[in-house]
Amino acid sequence: MNYRILVLPGDGVGPEVTSEAIKVLNRVAERNQLTLHYEYALIGGAAYDAVGVPLPKETMALCPGADAVLLGAIGGPQWDQLGPGLRPESGLLGIRAHLGLYANLRPAKVSTPLVEASPLKREVVEGVDLVIVRELAGGIYYGTPRGIIEDGPQKTGINTEIYRTPEIERIAHAAFQLARKRRRKVTSVDKANVLESSQLWRETVTRIGREYPDVALDFLYVDNCAMQLVTHPRRFDVVLTNNIFGDILSDEAAVITGSIGMLPSASLGTGTALYEPVHGSAPDIAGKGIANPLATILSAAMMVELSFQLPEAAGRIVSAVEKVLEEGYRTADIASPGQPTVGTVEMGDLVAERI
Ligand code: IPM
Ligand code: MN
Repeated sequence: MNYRILVLPGDGVGPEVTSEAIKVLNRVAERNQLTLHYEYALIGGAAYDAVGVPLPKETMALCPGADAVLLGAIGGPQWDQLGPGLRPESGLLGIRAHLGLYANLRPAKVSTPLVEASPLKREVVEGVDLVIVRELAGGIYYGTPRGIIEDGPQKTGINTEIYRTPEIERIAHAAFQLARKRRRKVTSVDKANVLESSQLWRETVTRIGREYPDVALDFLYVDNCAMQLVTHPRRFDVVLTNNIFGDILSDEAAVITGSIGMLPSASLGTGTALYEPVHGSAPDIAGKGIANPLATILSAAMMVELSFQLPEAAGRIVSAVEKVLEEGYRTADIASPGQPTVGTVEMGDLVAERI
């Protein structure tokens, strides 16, 4: 089998962590008689610096030919002052829209060797295995009207939280279908006590839920969910939520697993899917060779499972990561005080050797 992967290293630690994921993918390819072709393109601040926009046409033109996209990270303080549409984040939002990616899967699983790295007590986090299904194509991220209006001496900032029934239906189906491959429980998270968009969300998810009588469904308000994620994280299996709540809750879910440097993600639509670590570009440690590549390596595993439909090969990547952790290797972000650490490249080598 032949696959084309579009690699968008991006900014900060992005290039360092994507090259380790590619190292691991190449090892998987050798073992599974796959041929992987890589094409590289610009996104984010790196694209802005090179060609003046965060999502160049050349990058978008390469998407249709790709079987999957692997993205590193985008953003950095040097681009924070740029106008709307020019910031690195616009590049990411633009490619999500361009590829029609509406379902963002963010699994948060506590790996046993890392229980001590969690800021929460062992008895709270042990065994946590949840996935946030974040609606990625709508809501306040894309709703109009939006903007900053100048009326006289004062200004008004506007964003619009908006959901239409079909947008809720398709993400609800994605969540229920995923739950069927897991522990068959969906928790839908909204703010239906205040927001009409959430009332429609709840009504629609309830209706779609009737098509999945084998999946348990419950609802939480987002503030309560934020609390339960740190008090009773084991109660969650699939968490279904909108774009902005999913953004916030997935960082919270990530940190309870010990390090945001561990969390992968997949963004799915009807065509080419995109895989990226949940963490950002970490400009403070960029270029130092100390970033944790495991989130990107695990994102590559999601690619192998979901885009290449090779669950066994994907499982081999996940097992290799677990093995490395069991053997005690740690990057700085997941090390206990005083524990020796390995760098980005060494961590990538260790995983690749165990495939
Ligand atoms: C994420 C990020 C992005 C988002 C930013 C960089 C636009 O925080 O993927 O979670 O808000 O979706
Ligand atoms: Mn985020």
